[in-house]
Amino acid sequence: MENILKSIELSAMRIKDAIDVKDFGYSNEQNSSGESQLQLDIQCDMIIEEEFSKIDSIHTIASEEKEKEMLLHEDGKYLIAFDPLDGSSLIDVNLSVGSIFGIYENSFEGSNLVASCYVVYGPRVELVFAYEGKVKLYLLQNNYFEFVKEIRLGEKGKLNAPGGTQQNWMPYHKEMVDGLFQEGYRLRYSGGMVPDLHQILLKGGGLFSYPATSDKPDGKLRKLFEVFPFAHVYTMAGGYAIDGKEELLSLDTKHIHDTSPCFFGSKYEIDRVKDVYSKA
Ligand code: AHG
Ligand code: MN
Ligand code: MN
Repeated sequence: MENILKSIELSAMRIKDAIDVKDFGYSNEQNSSGESQLQLDIQCDMIIEEEFSKIDSIHTIASEEKEKEMLLHEDGKYLIAFDPLDGSSLIDVNLSVGSIFGIYENSFEGSNLVASCYVVYGPRVELVFAYEGKVKLYLLQNNYFEFVKEIRLGEKGKLNAPGGTQQNWMPYHKEMVDGLFQEGYRLRYSGGMVPDLHQILLKGGGLFSYPATSDKPDGKLRKLFEVFPFAHVYTMAGGYAIDGKEELLSLDTKHIHDTSPCFFGSKYEIDRVKDVYSKA
């Protein structure tokens, strides 16, 4: 696992350089979710593939930017699913973006997730790694990821990050979101799940939601490389991660690009979601 973390760190440093210097034109390709790929999305995917190819313990990789899984080392133990550049449509307006990694054993199932990691490329580059019951924050300084602190979520926060197009929300979802605002919650939503979820984690709590909507009944965010890794980080930090009713990590996956509605937060807010969704 140490080798894997090292290769994520190396990838992150190379991706940071790519973000800083490359132009951001669109390629002529679409990814498996039907989104236009930026040249930068593809470049970041290649950087990670290259770094992971050097690690013998990695059996298979799956990426947001690859249609199919790819075998790397027949004798490897781990399967890694990753989103090389999350929030890439925010690059041209210079908002924070990220990379997300889910490290699985045996097969790509939420229940087989053994470690998860994400990197935030913002004013500073930070890395969060969840493994063996601990969630640790690192800061990139002089080509080295220095340990900063362990992260724990509080029981209740103050931030609300409601994703999806409101016009397409279910009425009970809107009522739940409005209810939190009426209690004094503040809106914090950049449109990048990495910085949005990172903010809630570091400010001690709140709610990030990307619900089922009338146009996207299974939500937008992808299970293997967006939803499950953050579900793992949040639960290990003492928070909760559900699809409205069930724990996200207990859901099955049929296809590597499957999506799910998702809610991440501290106890108070997730209890609220469960209460509303159990009556829906
Ligand atoms: P990606 O750039 O990898 O396709 O992911 C973008 C995701 C996620 O970061 C964010 O939370 C969500 O899309 C935002 O979607 P909306 O614009 O529908 O709110
Ligand atoms: Mn993404
Ligand atoms: Mn992406």
